[in-house]
Amino acid sequence: MEKTGTDLKLAAQLLTEGGLVAIPTETVYGLAANGLNEEALLRIFKAKRRPLFDPLILHTDSVDKVRQWVSDWPTWANDLAAKWWPGPLTLLLPRQQVVPDLVTSGLPQVAVRVPRHPLTLTLLEMLPFPLAAPSANPFGYVSPTRPEHVAAQLLQEVDYILDGGACEVGIESTIVGWENGQVTVFRLGGLPVEEIERVVGPVVVHKGSGSNPVAPGMLKSHYAPGKPVLFGTAATYFSNPFANNAQVGVISLRKTYPVPDAHMKTLSPTGNLEEAARNLFKALRELDATQVKMIVTEEFPDTLLGRAINERLRRASAPRE
Ligand code: TXA
Ligand code: MG
Repeated sequence: MEKTGTDLKLAAQLLTEGGLVAIPTETVYGLAANGLNEEALLRIFKAKRRPLFDPLILHTDSVDKVRQWVSDWPTWANDLAAKWWPGPLTLLLPRQQVVPDLVTSGLPQVAVRVPRHPLTLTLLEMLPFPLAAPSANPFGYVSPTRPEHVAAQLLQEVDYILDGGACEVGIESTIVGWENGQVTVFRLGGLPVEEIERVVGPVVVHKGSGSNPVAPGMLKSHYAPGKPVLFGTAATYFSNPFANNAQVGVISLRKTYPVPDAHMKTLSPTGNLEEAARNLFKALRELDATQVKMIVTEEFPDTLLGRAINERLRRASAPRE
């Protein structure tokens, strides 16, 4: 059987039987299984080598379905969902008992999202159960934004890869919940904080902690390629006349630096942060496949998607645990 394709019936059948299917979303590819089937859920953790304490997001196609899994649907969540679902937004809400502990890692809340990709939305409409889906990469590695990224690392583990082309947003969803009486962003992502604040007013951006994360996507060394990443060091690096330019890869917004073409990843020549986010993970993967000894990056403007890009690069450059 050809493992990559656009056969929705086959994908639905495999998922119904407890299989693993990689699904496209507007953010990154997910490694999906029936979110109410414990055996299928265990397969996700095994395939990714993901620790059981790192909870999963439930994906579905409508607010009506979401309300079967959450025990509260507050106004702020309703307002955000009305404006941004389907879209790169995950809501963290009190769970219903039907949600398996494997999904939430035993935590009191469940993460839910309606993704914005036509193929996956159609698939979700066909299914009577939600899809639990972490990003479709081995634990701790860069998320996949194309079907070939999934195939490169998890082909043996998945039953099928639903081919939805390149992801439109390119970085994971923004995770929003409630803490200490305030709407709180637990993970910066594909929906800018500025857009969230337009809907619900000022929000708190949670500072993730490395050792005992509230949201384990916040583990310090995450999104890491195999090569060392030095965040925000590009300018300093190239100001050193003794720098060995042949051995570094560079990630920049719009500038180019004196390295071989294959080592220079300019994410958006026009300085567009959405385009930069779309290209980020592909660039990291490509640099990882070259002979460079390390990757130096610029610090991106700390606004809109630049904030989420900086967060990814900062974590990629954190010491490995
Ligand atoms: O864009 C995305 O969100 C992608 C696509 C596939 O939807 N998914 C994704 O999943 O990035 P993953 O598993 O790589 O990251 C999910 C993160 C967890 O690491 C954790 O930080 C947070 O979501 N999370 C999920 N459920 C949670 C819960 N019950 N309590 C606290 N944090 C939770
Ligand atoms: Mg992930």
